[in-house]
Amino acid sequence: MSIQQENIKKLVERRAVAKLGGGQKRIDAQHEKGKLTARERLALLLDEGSFEEFDMFVRHRCTNFGMEKQHFDGDGVVTGCGTIGGRLVYVAAQDFTVSGGSLSKTMSEKICKALDLATRNGAPFICLNDSGGARIQEGIDSLAGYGEIFERNILASGVIPQISGIFGPCAGGAVYSPALTDFTLMVKNTSYMFLTGPAVVKSVVGEVVSQEDLGGARVHSTKSGVAHFAAENEEDGIATIKELLSYIPQNNMEEAPYVPTNDPAGRVDDSLNEIIPDNPNQAYDMYRVIHSIVDDGKFFEIQKDFAKNIIIGFAHMNGRSVGIVANQPKMLAGTLDINASRKGARFVRFCDAFNIPLVSLVDVPGFLPGTQQEYGAVITNGAKLLYAFGEATVPKVTVELRKSYGGSYIVMNSKHLRADLVYAWPSAQIAVMGADGAVNVLYAKEMKATEDPAEKEAIRAQKKAEYEELFSNPYQAAEKGYIDDVIEPRNTRFRIIRALESLAGKKQPMPAKKHDNLPL
Ligand code: HXC
Repeated sequence: MSIQQENIKKLVERRAVAKLGGGQKRIDAQHEKGKLTARERLALLLDEGSFEEFDMFVRHRCTNFGMEKQHFDGDGVVTGCGTIGGRLVYVAAQDFTVSGGSLSKTMSEKICKALDLATRNGAPFICLNDSGGARIQEGIDSLAGYGEIFERNILASGVIPQISGIFGPCAGGAVYSPALTDFTLMVKNTSYMFLTGPAVVKSVVGEVVSQEDLGGARVHSTKSGVAHFAAENEEDGIATIKELLSYIPQNNMEEAPYVPTNDPAGRVDDSLNEIIPDNPNQAYDMYRVIHSIVDDGKFFEIQKDFAKNIIIGFAHMNGRSVGIVANQPKMLAGTLDINASRKGARFVRFCDAFNIPLVSLVDVPGFLPGTQQEYGAVITNGAKLLYAFGEATVPKVTVELRKSYGGSYIVMNSKHLRADLVYAWPSAQIAVMGADGAVNVLYAKEMKATEDPAEKEAIRAQKKAEYEELFSNPYQAAEKGYIDDVIEPRNTRFRIIRALESLAGKKQPMPAKKHDNLPL
């Protein structure tokens, strides 16, 4: 064998060892927990044969606590680039088989290198987390590594899409990298995120709670809103990340991929002409409207189990990606509250940063009243959604379906917040408040003046009828140009598509500033 051939043999052998991470025993242990290894995850995520690995031979530099005797090529993370559906992405997958995926300084350097390349080359960055947190033996170096990743997450925000998959533990300050990225996906039963684990919670606040109940996928996808997706298992999680990518662009200078459809742009849906119940207090399902108007009825929902009174997600309309924000009359009557506002605002800002037009479907009776909401700062949180819609410069199309009252009318992408085209169904009621509330305020004195309940009711009914005649329709707003047209519900798909096509070249400069100061 020539020297060159021997060298090549050594390389092949060393690669094979590096690919085993922490060794077969630890790989088996990972499988026994129902988890895949970092490399198995990347194999599922990336197009076959597309993975270009970086830093396979990087080793940690720690000399404390016997670490100088423990080296694994590549350390606890696999990084590189590859393609998904032919589109370039950069990846980092933490390898739990090497020191529990705990973050060393060299691991952070590998992750930062991949993230820097992603940013420079305008491609999404996907990090699959599975780590015991800061590598304890490295002390401050590990914390420095986290800080450097966070800083890059911040600088890349709004430049390239960043996606975090939580496929195992993610605790302590480590949770802040996912929190800084655009989308976080958790896997049910095998992943968790919390700042302090159950033991610390017990000793500090005396609360006994399991890992799952403190920071499992269910908690973060239903209660906290930290996770945008809760996957059934790792395969489902990877598939969800890939699907998400199909709706979003490579970077903030590009548009999302065009997805050809056989669904005719001019398709009408007669059932929408019958969807609004006669009783204004009766709910209907906003999902029916969404599925009816988008291409092939396909809606990719985000945060579907959190703040269900607002629905957000991506769809295609005549092949173009859109971000849909819709009130859900079936939940809390479609009112806006703290969580709905936070959920909507972050989504609107993502769409605006990445050139994805916004379509708003409005049926909102107002903000949810009460001390719980006021003490929780519904004012500041509601302002987030208001701000997000108001600052967005992507094409913005709004359809007012039924109720659109008070501040929530303005917030939900109204003309006054620079919505480009606003349509109303004939059932729309654009007013300061609903008829009952208005009559109670305006005619309180008249109703107090009589002791006779029948007379009271007669006054109420008459004034309510007058109010409804005047305000419970879209025409007052249409007369003033606050809505651009009153449309038949069956034509909604076609009208939105035509509006978006007319807005494809939209340019809307913003006043010069260092950055905004949105109400956080
Ligand atoms: C070094 C670690 C480690 C860590 C785990 N390991 N966490 N090594 N630093 N932080 C090692 C273990 O020693 C073990 O090594 C291997 O990884 C697998 O760990 P196990 O405990 O055997 O696995 P498991 O039973 O599945 O438990 C996983 C775990 C547990 C729940 C994550 O390991 C754990 O509690 N680790 C410590 C978590 C933690 O407190 N981290 C610091 C958080 S503070 P061998 O050689 O036996 O395979 C923090 C601050 C970040 O992260 C701040 C950023 C700003």
